Amino acid sequence: MYSLAWLTATTATLATYIIMASSQSTIPVSKVLIFSATREFRHDSIPTAIEAMKAKGSQYGIQFDNTEDNTLFSDGRIDQYDALVFLSNTGEVLDDAGQAAFQKYINDGGNFVGIHSASDCLRNSTFFEKELGAHFDYHPEITNATVNVLDHSHPFTSQLPDRWEVFDEMYNFKSDPRSVGAVVVLSADESTYTDPGPRNFNQGTPHPTAWYQEHGAGVQDGGVSGRSFYTSLGHTNETWKDEIYLSHVMGGISWVLQSNTTSFINSSALVGSGTGSTSTSSLSPSSTTGTSPSGTDTPSNNNASPSIAWVSAPFLLAALGATLSALSL
Ligand SMILES: *[C@@H]1O[C@H](CO)[C@@H](O)[C@H](O)[C@H]1NC(C)=O
Ligand SMILES: *[C@@H]1O[C@H](CO)[C@@H](O)[C@H](O)[C@H]1NC(C)=O
Ligand SMILES: *[C@@H]1O[C@H](CO)[C@@H](O)[C@H](O)[C@H]1NC(C)=O
Ligand SMILES: *[C@@H]1O[C@H](CO)[C@@H](O)[C@H](O)[C@H]1NC(C)=O
Ligand SMILES: *[C@@H]1O[C@H](CO)[C@@H](O)[C@H](O)[C@H]1NC(C)=O
Repeated sequence: MYSLAWLTATTATLATYIIMASSQSTIPVSKVLIFSATREFRHDSIPTAIEAMKAKGSQYGIQFDNTEDNTLFSDGRIDQYDALVFLSNTGEVLDDAGQAAFQKYINDGGNFVGIHSASDCLRNSTFFEKELGAHFDYHPEITNATVNVLDHSHPFTSQLPDRWEVFDEMYNFKSDPRSVGAVVVLSADESTYTDPGPRNFNQGTPHPTAWYQEHGAGVQDGGVSGRSFYTSLGHTNETWKDEIYLSHVMGGISWVLQSNTTSFINSSALVGSGTGSTSTSSLSPSSTTGTSPSGTDTPSNNNASPSIAWVSAPFLLAALGATLSALSL
């Protein structure tokens, strides 16, 4: 026969376990959206890139979703993400409503990462140009080249050699990203490849290849500025299978996530995991073949709840079992 005292003590202990398990499971996991829409040239490395980033997600504490559906912008579903990754986009990938929603996301403290031809989309958008840093102009044919690593002190450069041998497109830009406050961390060594030009714009020296902005310059007055990171590298499938390159990209994504301006690590933030849509169902993982997911996907509004449920379930079952066996004796 179990005494009432025993039952009370057991229940109290189990309740403590549940609370501990719940609080452990609220260790935040950030949510990042990869946006890979294209309206012009389409890189066939896009599926490889998405797969590569998703494969690294758990190691970096990042839950990736990917989409090519721009209604996620106009209906506010982007607000639940701690960062948006623009992957190899080209052309007018967002309409006016989408661009306005994107501007609002940035004003609300959202973080931005641009990869490769992301600098060749939304060419008429000054906001986008500032948030990314500069628009793409042209590149010579894909080439072997050496990239100088100017500063190893960041997560996106710490694993790179001083002189990094790459096979990629050496982009030229229409402006100097330093003019909006970006800090260039990778620079193409122009003596290691041939570029017939012509150079019609001043992109500054040394030749910008990747950079970061502590405060993304796309933010409007009065906004909360998150972080921005851009790398022009990432053309081929092979590059997306290179661990050195992946350390660069994943380092950039995890760096922007430390901005403190999204709910991943700031409970009063306006955007990020835990805010946004009021729906409770999960965004079904979209295909990585480039097809657009349906506009009816309804992402979760609270990233922590599912993990609480998972971690707590065994304890709840144990508590139920103990209670039932106690009552039956
Ligand atoms: C890159 O990978 C994709 C599959 O993800 C494939 O369709 C494409 O042909 C590959 N590109 C090259 C140049 O091999
Ligand atoms: C971008 O601006 C140029 C020059 O003003 C114009 O010709 C073009 O139609 C614009 N494109 C879009 C998509 O708005
Ligand atoms: C780039 O370098 C690799 C290895 O050194 C070589 O096999 C390849 O042919 C080179 N590619 C070009 C386009 O020069
Ligand atoms: C974020 O907050 C932490 C803890 O307060 C602080 O150490 C860090 O410098 C902040 N980072 C930024 C980018 O403000
Ligand atoms: C947290 O977010 C709020 C709202 O965006 C912002 O005002 C505040 O400065 C952020 N806190 C930190 C530590 O950055």
